[in-house]
Amino acid sequence: MTSPIDIRSERRSRLPGRRVTDWNPPPEGNAAGCRIVDLPRVTDPRGNLTFLEGGAQVPFDIARVYYLYDVPGGESRGGHAHRRLEQLVIAAAGSFDVIVDDGTETARFHLNRSYYGLYMPRMTWRELGNFSSGSVCLVLASHPYSEEDYYRDYDEFLVDRRAEEQA
Ligand code: TYD
Repeated sequence: MTSPIDIRSERRSRLPGRRVTDWNPPPEGNAAGCRIVDLPRVTDPRGNLTFLEGGAQVPFDIARVYYLYDVPGGESRGGHAHRRLEQLVIAAAGSFDVIVDDGTETARFHLNRSYYGLYMPRMTWRELGNFSSGSVCLVLASHPYSEEDYYRDYDEFLVDRRAEEQA
């Protein structure tokens, strides 16, 4: 079985016409452990500022930061889960959707403000898509990069995730 998340067809069928709001829309659906973290905002007529401190706004020790940018229209990213990695995902510029799957339920988060972070615990399958032009997806991660930490096969993820739930 492939991942049930097909962000491209979802984008085609459901996302056009979606109203861009100035508030954080509640997620559509539910997925265990994934939640929006409110980040501090220092508003200023010269431009706003948001900061992140390990141990405060970020619920893990930050070992790595990476960002996605120059994503061509219609492209999607992700399509994997992590054995131990926790992440906080921020739309540092523009907007995009993150669809998360805990093996039982899925939820879609539309990230469109730089002062919200999406926390994803370990063992969360994710797809990112619907990137707006010029968007930047900033990711804080709990561990250095390790290919061994990835599930790139959805079935393998599902088997292990469900085994953990039954343990
Ligand atoms: P991947 O995590 O699959 O990208 P995404 O989930 O955004 O689609 O990473 C793509 C490639 O980038 C992967 O083959 C290895 C490399 N990479 C690093 O070298 N270091 C990193 O911290 C990350 C996230 C990826």
